[in-house]
Amino acid sequence: MGSYGDLGEVGGKRVLVRSDLNVPLDGTTITDEGRIRASLPTIQALAEAGARVVVTAHLGRPKGAPEDRYSLRPVAARLGELLGRDVAFATDTVGESAQEVVAALEDGQVAVLENVRFNPGETSKDEAERGEFADRLAALADAFVSDGFGVVHRKQASVYDVAQRLPHAMGGLVAAELEVMRRLTEEPARPYAVVLGGSKVSDKLGVIDNLIQKADELLIGGGMVFTFLAAQGHGVGKSLLEEDQVDTCRDYLARAEQAGVRIVLPTDIVVDTAFPDGDRDPQPQVVPADAIPDDGIGLDIGPESGRAFAEVVAGAATVFWNGPMGVFETPAFADGTRAVAEALTEVTAKGGLSVVGGGDSAAAVRKLGFADDAFGHISTGGGASLEFLEGKTLPGIAVLED
Ligand code: 3PG
Ligand code: MG
Repeated sequence: MGSYGDLGEVGGKRVLVRSDLNVPLDGTTITDEGRIRASLPTIQALAEAGARVVVTAHLGRPKGAPEDRYSLRPVAARLGELLGRDVAFATDTVGESAQEVVAALEDGQVAVLENVRFNPGETSKDEAERGEFADRLAALADAFVSDGFGVVHRKQASVYDVAQRLPHAMGGLVAAELEVMRRLTEEPARPYAVVLGGSKVSDKLGVIDNLIQKADELLIGGGMVFTFLAAQGHGVGKSLLEEDQVDTCRDYLARAEQAGVRIVLPTDIVVDTAFPDGDRDPQPQVVPADAIPDDGIGLDIGPESGRAFAEVVAGAATVFWNGPMGVFETPAFADGTRAVAEALTEVTAKGGLSVVGGGDSAAAVRKLGFADDAFGHISTGGGASLEFLEGKTLPGIAVLED
């Protein structure tokens, strides 16, 4: 028997572990198992210490009721294969099946409970409703380990409220992720470059705000770049545009200039006249960023921009990257994302810190064939790492510190 962190002796105890097993699925096929792999060490350590390990997690965003396509069953099966252990599966989260499965666990055995978001109490904004559900989850265990870094920014029953009801400890994955996040925020080695992509500017406002004071270079690509190009007065054709954010982007550009932070925007763009849909062969065309045709949809940063971005990134000592540069799922629009990923690996090779943040970017680098260890760290948390960099308090971390 053995101990785990602040919990001390866990042998023979039922330990509820909140993991983030929210992996992309194609039907029941897992297309990127990074989050499952990242969750293994904590589960393995607890099982080896003789705990009866009860894993709770979510998949997707079901609306508080069971939906087959969001079942964790295939994920539990893969977890068992990777652990090299039998993993029991409960077909509900706190009901009869969960109670039976937990009661049948022997020391060192592992069970996974069905998608915690099949229960309305999990994500409820009503404290009492969430609390009532947390009571039921807590009743299944003697202690709680918080290891789902990807969800620590959510004030949800299995992340937050349950920690108030059981002796608790931070899991190894959350501790490792926090360590890297601290290196990014407390005196990062300079130059410090941040690359942001993905579709929506509105998701990234807080982080841009904060980074204007912290980073030396802010490189922007992906769907969100068109709102910045519009803010510079350029037409963006039929590209993604958040009209209501144009003024905000203009303000960021002005503030960055004052603060001496370089915002790097693409100078060329790969456009097509339709979004890739599999039925039609892509017809990519490279155009200057200030001359996107009226019928053009921007789908990647262009080759000149890819080289420029790579040069800035490769010259940095610290890099954080969140969000693909283009529609990387289609090879014709993957070059910008590949160029950035490649440059991050150069930073790693020369001893700098390169961090890939978030589910989408992590899936992108793996899909493009990069090895995980080519980067300093691949975070399992997209929203969580962005909120950390924004300087926000993460409820799932704060609750562990009480
Ligand atoms: C994620 O995929 O970013 C995490 O699993 C959190 O999921 P959520 O954004 O649905 O809360
Ligand atoms: Mg505490």
